[in-house]
Amino acid sequence: MSQVLETEPGFVPDITDVGADAARVAKLATSADLYRRWERQQWLVAVVDPARDRATWDDLRPFVKQQTLNALAELEIGEVTVTRTLGTLIDNPPTEDDRIYLCTQLADEARHVRFFQTYLQEVCGVEAEAGANADSDVAADYASMFAPALTAVTGRLREVGSSPEDWYRALVYYHLITEGVLAATALRTTRFLARRLELSALDEGLTNVTRDESRHVSFGLRAAQDGVAQGYGQVIKDAHFESIAMAAWVLIGPARHNPSPAIRMALVSRAAQLQQNVDIAEERLVKQLRLIGMPELADAALTAWRQAIVKAIDGYEENWGSPHPIRAAARIAQN
Ligand SMILES: [Fe+2]
Ligand SMILES: [Fe+2]
Repeated sequence: MSQVLETEPGFVPDITDVGADAARVAKLATSADLYRRWERQQWLVAVVDPARDRATWDDLRPFVKQQTLNALAELEIGEVTVTRTLGTLIDNPPTEDDRIYLCTQLADEARHVRFFQTYLQEVCGVEAEAGANADSDVAADYASMFAPALTAVTGRLREVGSSPEDWYRALVYYHLITEGVLAATALRTTRFLARRLELSALDEGLTNVTRDESRHVSFGLRAAQDGVAQGYGQVIKDAHFESIAMAAWVLIGPARHNPSPAIRMALVSRAAQLQQNVDIAEERLVKQLRLIGMPELADAALTAWRQAIVKAIDGYEENWGSPHPIRAAARIAQN
């Protein structure tokens, strides 16, 4: 009997224990399953009580505060954007169960925005009205590159004559790339940071957000898997390859200054941290393609991703006139 793969606490079902062949036929949660899971997994921003982190926050060193603030601002602008763009996917989904599920997701995204804005305001003392961080360096690459693309592909669904192909393109940009690759990677890194800094409300809130996002990505994978099975593989493939370069650019963030520490050990550690983000995102990208029934695209996606990472690092070095930490550490290792 096939088993519905759970996706908690990670975002993508672990396929290693079901064997590589089974990945081709992995049975993902249905929209009705995800709706039921949503009813069981409710949480409240007020119960997390962000304000309890204030004293710990106040004692952090300025550099650490800035690092955490950057991560939160990035997540907040991402949440604002997905909240604004999800609505059109609800208009013409493949099934009524999908529509009901997507309505629950919209409520989740609103709660995520509220959580990050409350945290930024009550703990970090930052006024975080919707989109207030859109023009900061931190979110500049997302705001200038990925957000307009996501807005365009989801906006297309509002136009007369939009097709199922348009819906699947928006699904890939939204659920698989924005959530499955970018948000998943950013949440994992930020949760790790929150734990290390003993910001317990942040850790709890991020854990809740991650659980919600796990449902969102599950939906995306299952809907894409259905789409591939029903003959929409071409647009799903095209949408992946259109968005890979943008995702790599956003992950590296050439607009964000990321100075290489002068101390060798600090540089090596910083580079390892950044490289780990790249590796996590890459692994997710490839795993997702296998799960939706397109394992034959994995090698080409990997090549496109790695080329795009090199280009984004080149972009960083052009912007700042200095080596990116990943490259600076690699040069040291060679000598
Ligand atoms: Fe979210
Ligand atoms: Fe989400």
